[in-house]
Amino acid sequence: MSKPIYVLSGPNLNLLGVREPHIYGKDTLDDVRAACERRAQTLGRSIVFRQSNHEGVLIDWIQEARTGASALVINPAAYGHTSIALLDALKAADIPVVECHLSNPAARETFRHHTYVSLAATGLVSGFGLASYELAVEAAARLSA
Ligand code: DQA
Repeated sequence: MSKPIYVLSGPNLNLLGVREPHIYGKDTLDDVRAACERRAQTLGRSIVFRQSNHEGVLIDWIQEARTGASALVINPAAYGHTSIALLDALKAADIPVVECHLSNPAARETFRHHTYVSLAATGLVSGFGLASYELAVEAAARLSA
C-alpha cells in the first residue's frame, strides 16, 4: 500500500459553508473531506486531511509529509499569496505537490493573482469548488502512482 496523500487546507477554510458562500460555495470542510476520502478510495489510495489557521502548523505538516506522504494537495488559502516560508517547506518536501483553490483566484482581486505555492507545485486546480479538491486528489494520485 502506498503512503497516504496529504490534503492540507489553510486559514479560514474551517469556515467553509458559512464564509462568503457566493464565492466558496455551501459545502463544509467536512463535505470536502468526505468527497476527498471517497475519491481516494475509488483510486485505491488513502488520505490524511487536515486544516489549520496557523502558518507554522502547516509548515510542520508539510515537513511531516516529506517522509509520511506520497504526494501533497494544498489549498494554502491566503498564505499562498504571502508565505515564502510555505514555499520553502514545499520545495524541501521532495514529493509531488498539487495546489488547489475552491475559487479561481486569477479571476479575482489582483493581490490574489500571484501565489508563491505555484512555484513549488506540479500543477494547480482552481475554480471548481469542492470538485477542485477531488480533482487535485486525483492528480496527486496519478503523480505518485
Ligand atoms: C482560496 C483563494 C484565496 O485567495 C483565499 O485567500 C482563500 C481561499 C480558495 O480556495 O479559493 O482563503 O484559496
